[in-house]
Amino acid sequence: MSENTEIKKGLAGVVADYTAISKVNAETNSLLYRGYPVQELAAEKSFEEVALLLWTGELPTEEELAAFTEFERANRALDPAVKEAIDLLPTDCHPMDVGRTAVSVLGARDDRSEDSSPETELAKAQEIFVAFPAVVAYDQRRRRGQEIIEPRDDLNYAENFLWTTFGEEPAPEVVDAFRVSMILYAEHSFNASTFTARVITSTLADMHSAITGAIGALKGSLHGGANEAVMHTFEEIGIRTEESREEAAARAKSWMEQALADKKKVMGFGHRVYKNGDSRVPTMKQALDAMVDYYGRGELMGLYDGLETAMSEAKDIKPNLDYPAGPTYYLMGFDIEMFTPLFIAARLTGWTAHVMEQRANNSLIRPLSEYNGPQERHLS
Ligand code: ACO
Repeated sequence: MSENTEIKKGLAGVVADYTAISKVNAETNSLLYRGYPVQELAAEKSFEEVALLLWTGELPTEEELAAFTEFERANRALDPAVKEAIDLLPTDCHPMDVGRTAVSVLGARDDRSEDSSPETELAKAQEIFVAFPAVVAYDQRRRRGQEIIEPRDDLNYAENFLWTTFGEEPAPEVVDAFRVSMILYAEHSFNASTFTARVITSTLADMHSAITGAIGALKGSLHGGANEAVMHTFEEIGIRTEESREEAAARAKSWMEQALADKKKVMGFGHRVYKNGDSRVPTMKQALDAMVDYYGRGELMGLYDGLETAMSEAKDIKPNLDYPAGPTYYLMGFDIEMFTPLFIAARLTGWTAHVMEQRANNSLIRPLSEYNGPQERHLS
């Protein structure tokens, strides 16, 4: 290795480009979308408004929102070609594979693949955003042997998502927690999946290819897959509805102490950027608390508290967004494997905004490597 080469393993600490989409500030534990604190957006805005903010840089006017709402509500039905492709996939494959396939099918059928003008890119972003909930809802239902539910145009995005998944009109408390989760999951600067989307875009490939790749990156348990892994941890410890919060906390605490003694990585904790807590967790935790009250499941919070306390005491590592999001989706009734596809539905907004930003000021992303294989040798 040359003396002056410094390898930035995992690109940790590398600033790869500018972005105007979001600002993650680890020092102040804050997250801004286009300048607005995410907590303010989660308190006051719909997910549809936040999506438009991420794509265009500004919150929509009333007319812009009305036009987008009309488009969104008119195009929610599952594309028959996507349904046919999903039906070819086994019901026990991972739902992330279904989501990845669905976006790939949409891309293959889009005759604007070579058109990357800003207007067409925005249209594609909005079309993928609108199409995806039907994929998740259908996949959840077919795994349970249930019939597809047609969307309703009198419901907003979050209400319709839950309606088409469960076939029941959701309670306002549940809709609100779901809306908040979508907003918090929407965007987070150059995380692994977003960077994947930007790398693919930088080669001048089309938006659907970039999003398909991003879904692959999100699937891993060090990234989006952690929200599922959190619930698997809860299940491993044992979810006992008859137990008190204190009893559950005590069991979870000893489980964590053992896991750390065994040098296990416990999903839902730690973050590459935030080292003193994830800015999104307090807002998501409030949504989880609301769901725990709504469903009357205090014992789950015992497990939650026990793991968090033990991790904090032993290693001073804080929960990330996936930690409160996992049990929230569980309480709503989603199968655990569906949690990361829900993350896709939200993050599609950020990914597509980054595709457009990368495209607008492109440079091929192509780092160097330091060779450490065999010395030069010859066949004879
Ligand atoms: N459980 C146990 N120990 C941990 C954890 C964890 N979840 N996270 C970090 N550590 C420890 C590491 O073992 C390491 O300890 P050591 O110095 O004694 O070896 C130290 O903290 C630093 O950890 P790294 O993995 O090197 O930190 P990095 O910044 O590379 O990793 C990451 C960040 C990948 C998120 C890591 O914290 C992790 O694996 N967490 C679990 C997966 C997870 O929850 N991912 C979701 C991310 S957020 C999101 O996608 C919304």
